[in-house]
Amino acid sequence: MRRWPRFLPSPHREVRIDERWALCGPIRAGLFRVVFGLWVAGILPLARPAPASGSSVQDTQAEDQRTVWDGVYSAAQAERGQALYRESCSSCHAPDLRGDNTSPSLVGMSFTFLWGGSTLGALFEGIRERMPPVRPGTLTAQSYRDILAFVLAKNGYPSGGQELEGDHLDYIIISAQPDDGR
Ligand code: HEC
Repeated sequence: MRRWPRFLPSPHREVRIDERWALCGPIRAGLFRVVFGLWVAGILPLARPAPASGSSVQDTQAEDQRTVWDGVYSAAQAERGQALYRESCSSCHAPDLRGDNTSPSLVGMSFTFLWGGSTLGALFEGIRERMPPVRPGTLTAQSYRDILAFVLAKNGYPSGGQELEGDHLDYIIISAQPDDGR
């Protein structure tokens, strides 16, 4: 004997005709949803705007792109950053930046694992929007940049002759090794 599909009433049970009809509604509705879903799935990709070919960032990358290994901050800036870090950050991320049980380390592999491949601009925005947690965004942009310089120094990236400026941040790539990200 053929097995009867579970979702239909067994023919061996006494089933009243209108009960069988009652099942047709949900089945038809389900079928409609599937067909409608497939239709929408087919339409949506067409409706999405095509990505602009060659964004402005990519255009400027060739000349302007640097990495954190290119001496992108000055030693004096990192020193200013150290004082600001001590005031606003070290209570959680620890004086040596290694963090504690609740605050992540800002140096070493955990730093490059999270931020490697990103730009300093992304890190800067991330810090300004979220740190310090109770009053994010309360330091000046200059102060956040100075702290960033200090974080770079503590990660062993070399200092250079120039300070980290706001309009450079988006073109500086964070990379674990000197030859990454080029
Ligand atoms: C009250 C404690 C506290 C203070 C003060 C604080 N942070 Fe944090 N910070 C955290 C915690 C907790 C996290 C993880 C949760 C999160 O990302 O929001 C974090 C995350 C971060 C991250 C992301 C790290 C990662 O790799 O995921 C950065 C960068 C950072 N903080 C930088 C700073 C800087 C710079 C300052 C000072 C301006 C600062 N924090 C002040 C507690 C703190």
